[in-house]
Amino acid sequence: MPSTSNPLPDVLLCGPYPDGDMQALAADYTLHKLWLTNDRDALLGACAPQVRALATRGELGANAELIARLPRLEIIACYGVGTDAIDLAAARARGIAVTNTPDVLTGDVADMAVGLALSALRRIPAGDAHVRSGAWSTRNMELTTRLHGKRVGVAGFGRIGAATARRLAGFDVQIGYFSRAAQPDSPHRYFSSLVDLAEWCDLLIVTLAGGAATQGLVNAEVLRALGAQGWLVNVSRGSTVDEPALLHALQQRQIAGAGLDVFCNEPRIDPRFMALDNVVLQPHHGSGTVETRRAMGQLLRDNLAAHFAGRLLLTPVG
Ligand code: 8YV
Repeated sequence: MPSTSNPLPDVLLCGPYPDGDMQALAADYTLHKLWLTNDRDALLGACAPQVRALATRGELGANAELIARLPRLEIIACYGVGTDAIDLAAARARGIAVTNTPDVLTGDVADMAVGLALSALRRIPAGDAHVRSGAWSTRNMELTTRLHGKRVGVAGFGRIGAATARRLAGFDVQIGYFSRAAQPDSPHRYFSSLVDLAEWCDLLIVTLAGGAATQGLVNAEVLRALGAQGWLVNVSRGSTVDEPALLHALQQRQIAGAGLDVFCNEPRIDPRFMALDNVVLQPHHGSGTVETRRAMGQLLRDNLAAHFAGRLLLTPVG
C-alpha cells in the first residue's frame, strides 16, 4: 500500500498493457489510465500535478499538447521501438527522458515480414479460405507465385531490416537494400535510390523507421518501378507508404499484391483495403507474440525503475 510519506510515483498510461504488466506496474506506481476516461480533460486536470512518468505505446505516442499538460513529467517510456508518434523535440526541450524497447522485438517483426511475404505470394490465407469453404471439392485453387529465386529489396536496413535479410538468406533469394548509407559489413547489394531498388527487385519489404524523414517515401514512382509483377510488404509504419498511391496501384494491378501489417489511421483503416483480393492484412501485430510483449513490458518497467532509482536508463532514445 502506498504510504503518504513515501507515495508511489504517479504514472500516466496512454493505453492498456497485458494483464501481467498492468499488475506489475500497479505494484510499483500509482496509475492513471487515460484510455478509460470519457473526460480526458478532467482526468488530466486531476492527475497532471503529480504525474512524473508517461507510459505509452508505439502507435499511441505522446504529442506536444499532452507533454505540455504534465508539468512534472520526467520520463516517457514507450512500449515499442518506434518513437515517431512521440514529440521528441518537446520532450528534449524540457529535459524529459524518453525510452523505447528496441532489440527485444526485432526477431518477431522480421518473422512477420517473411510471413507476410509468403502469405501474399503463395496466397496462404486464400488457400485456407478455399479449403474451409468446401470449394476444393469442386475446383483446384489457382496457382500462386514462388518466393525462392526472387530478388528481394529491403527498404531501411536497421536492426529489423538486417534481421529480415538474415531470414530471407535461407530462401535462396538475392537481396538488395536501401538505407541512408551503405553498410560496409553487409554482403548484400546497396541501392542509394529507393526507385532503383524497386526497379531491381520482385518483392520490396519496408522496414524503415517512421517519422517526417520517411513520410510517403514509398510513393507512386516507387510503386511504378516495382511493377505489375512486383510485391510490397510493409512492417514499418503506415506513414512510410503513400497510401492512396498504394490503393490505386493494388486496384489497378500496377503491382501484383501486398502484405501489410501497418496502415494510416489504425485501427480504422481505409475500407478499400478490405475489398482487395491481392492483399494480406494484419492488425499491426509484428511484435504481437506473448514472448516478445512480455519482454517489451519488462524492458519498459526496467527503464522506469532505473529512472526512479537514479540509475542509467537501459534503452534511452536519442
Ligand atoms: C507495437 C510498434 O505494435 O515497436 C513498435 O514501434 O509499433 C509495435 O511493436 C506497439 O508499440 C504495441 O502497442
